[in-house]
Amino acid sequence: MNCKTATIIKNKKEPNNIFITPLALAKTAIDMIDIISTEIWYDPFKNSGNYYNQFPTENKLYSEILEGKDFFDFNEKVDVICSNPPYSCLDNIIKKSIELQPRVINYLLGINNLTAKRIEVFNKAGYGITKVHICKVFKWFGMSVIIQFEKEKENIISFDRIVWR
Ligand SMILES: C[S@@+](CC[C@H](N)C(=O)[O-])C[C@H]1O[C@@H](n2cnc3c(N)ncnc32)[C@H](O)[C@@H]1O
Repeated sequence: MNCKTATIIKNKKEPNNIFITPLALAKTAIDMIDIISTEIWYDPFKNSGNYYNQFPTENKLYSEILEGKDFFDFNEKVDVICSNPPYSCLDNIIKKSIELQPRVINYLLGINNLTAKRIEVFNKAGYGITKVHICKVFKWFGMSVIIQFEKEKENIISFDRIVWR
């Protein structure tokens, strides 16, 4: 089963894979990003449009599997990726996001999904963490984090891969 099929099936079996971000929290994520007027913004997982509709530009694109627009088929040049991705297939989502080579990748994740290994994937691809916003969303599991990666920037936090005992 590929990632695309898995996502569709998971969404059918577990509708809770669709978590709609509160409008004001999506705005918090958007406000973390420096605006460069010529840049193209992209919401890969649009659903209600709480991100997409608040993007500060008309140069904007989106995907949404429920509308037949699959992120994994998207290949246009974009500068800013900002969204709340589904929790399934996160490794493939990170890989594909990096392949698109935007200036900024800003994702809302469950805090447990922000692993050192995943940060390392970004770092090896030349992306560093430039902003972090920790938050709690009503009824969502645990804490969440808006994490922003930017191309050719250093991490503003440190981490290690040791399993400490
Ligand atoms: C966690 S929800 C977030 C929705 C919206 N960004 C928000 O925060 O309100 C993830 C969304 O991604 C969509 N999705 C899942 N797999 C996708 C794919 N491969 N391509 C495009 N959209 C996908 C789901 O249908 C769902 O609407």
